[in-house]
Amino acid sequence: MPNATISGTGSFVPDQVVTNDDLVSIYGIETTDEWIQKRTGIKERRFAPEGMENSDMGLQASLRALDMAGLKATDLDMLIYATLSPKHSFPGDGVYLQNKLGLCDGGDATFAPAMDIRNQCSGFLYGLGTATAMVQSGACKHVLLVGSELHSAALELSTSGRSVATLFGDGAGAIIISATEEDKGIRHWHLGADGRGADVLRQRVWDTSKRPFITLDENGNGIIPREELYCNMDGRQVFKNAVQRMCFAVLRVCQEQGIQGEDVDLWLFHQANMRINQYVAKQLGIPEHKLLHNIDRYGNTTAATIPLLMDEAVRSGQLKPGMKIACVAFGSGFTWGASLIDW
Ligand code: UT7
Repeated sequence: MPNATISGTGSFVPDQVVTNDDLVSIYGIETTDEWIQKRTGIKERRFAPEGMENSDMGLQASLRALDMAGLKATDLDMLIYATLSPKHSFPGDGVYLQNKLGLCDGGDATFAPAMDIRNQCSGFLYGLGTATAMVQSGACKHVLLVGSELHSAALELSTSGRSVATLFGDGAGAIIISATEEDKGIRHWHLGADGRGADVLRQRVWDTSKRPFITLDENGNGIIPREELYCNMDGRQVFKNAVQRMCFAVLRVCQEQGIQGEDVDLWLFHQANMRINQYVAKQLGIPEHKLLHNIDRYGNTTAATIPLLMDEAVRSGQLKPGMKIACVAFGSGFTWGASLIDW
């Protein structure tokens, strides 16, 4: 069985920086820089311009990852796209990216399969588990995994939406998972879900158990009430469950792999809230210098947080060959995941 290693990483964030003060001055949200920083650690986030598609960001991140891996898009055997903010209800963004990578063009057409993952903040780690299994089984040699979110289009940027809108930002990260005979790569992963928490953090938009699935006006146009249009979250419940599940997931992968927490050189936690991550790190005895974060600059980019963090760490030289890293995420569903990687 080949090992599955990460042969390239890439990331992309839009140019527009939106500071906490901008949320007040531009969008008129009654909040303060102090409130947001104290509760979440976020100082600023990026917003994509109108016209930019989720898969445009995914494309830029993918091209950078392919370049680092020394591969062409035609070398890819499969694409996996993790997002909760696709351009449309369907199809998913994976096929838009596949076409933009030129995989349907003339002599270069490989028509590589494109799969979408709907596991929110854990989407990247669900994708990593899937890609690893595809590579280790021999079914694929190179799999492109993208985590990309275009949240800004669907945030309620007003005071009534402030408890959610102040948390999220746009961005994309991509990695290539490749087969190798070398003794390195993704050693272990654990994924979990607790569907009892499904309604604690959700964006409903419609309900197909209803007839019609969206309320219609007299002209047959859909009317979506505000509480269904935008994301709804019980922040405290999410916070409590995140801490418990992230600790559990980390302990489980370490135990199953027979390693101690101190054997890990770098920890890449999902970036939802600095306080959650500091709390988990404290519970697990992880020293501050081993915990990477960029939530201060990007906010919560959901499926993109871990690959963004990974790409920054690789390009800045913090993440070096031979290091052991651990990734962990928790989010809507509830879903969670953890992974151990020898770089
Ligand atoms: O990726 C997974 C997704 N999400 C998460 O991981 C989020 C997990 N939860 C959290 O991070 C925290 O629960 C939040 C940061 C979202 C909220 O912090 P909190 O300490 O749980 O605050 P709260 O929701 O209980 O709200 C406290 C007060 C409320 O005012 P009242 O009712 O006490 O008068 C809110 O209306 O803070 C108010 N508030 C705000 N004030 C200023 C909520 N959002 C804001 C805001 N600015 N942005």
